Amino acid sequence: MTSIQPLPLVVLISGTGSNLQAIIDAIAAGKINAEIRAVISNRPGVTGLQRARDAGIATHVIDHRDHANREEFDQALSACIDQYQPQLVVLAGFMRILGDGFVRHYLGRMLNIHPSLLPEFPGLDTHRRVLQAKHKRHGASVHFVTPELDGGPLLVQAVIPVHADDTADSLQQRVHQQEHIIYPMAIDWIAKGRVKYENNKLYFDGKLLDQPLQITAGKTS
Ligand code: GRF
Repeated sequence: MTSIQPLPLVVLISGTGSNLQAIIDAIAAGKINAEIRAVISNRPGVTGLQRARDAGIATHVIDHRDHANREEFDQALSACIDQYQPQLVVLAGFMRILGDGFVRHYLGRMLNIHPSLLPEFPGLDTHRRVLQAKHKRHGASVHFVTPELDGGPLLVQAVIPVHADDTADSLQQRVHQQEHIIYPMAIDWIAKGRVKYENNKLYFDGKLLDQPLQITAGKTS
């Protein structure tokens, strides 16, 4: 039997890094055949950096405030990423908008997780906006990153019901729990070669994915 090499990853964060932790844990438990070669934060001192160090992963801070403009920041960031030769760049709560050139450089090999059922509620403050719109369903989406903000092809979504007594905080907590399930799951599929990105479309097990895969209460459909 030939063993497949672990998928090399670089993870970009800006904060708490609970999704990073879910990926670290899934790798440690042998649930994903991947290797995080580095974690890069645009903010110094964040909890996610400590999580990476605790797991023995190389860390870097590329502070956007040290760069005169977006192009310079993007260049410094991609130089740092590329020295690790990742096959997948994982945005895990990375709170900077990336320029078109940067995004094109990683087209088809950069993933993001977003706390809403995209294309609904792109952008910030999703939990409050879902409540305000009186939606009955909410969730999280994993998608490939394209120049359109939160607009790249969707791989998997987790759906939760919105309860009458939900607040933005309770929704955030329940969505976060789902994120920790679907992000490692998505990376596992990519590590197994089950996902192909081509011309802004995704193929899963060779078939065009015209709807994202969905999980509800732990089930995949
Ligand atoms: C998550 O809600 C994710 O969807 C969004 O940023 C948050 C990051 O959380 N992109 P954490 O830092 O992984 O805990």
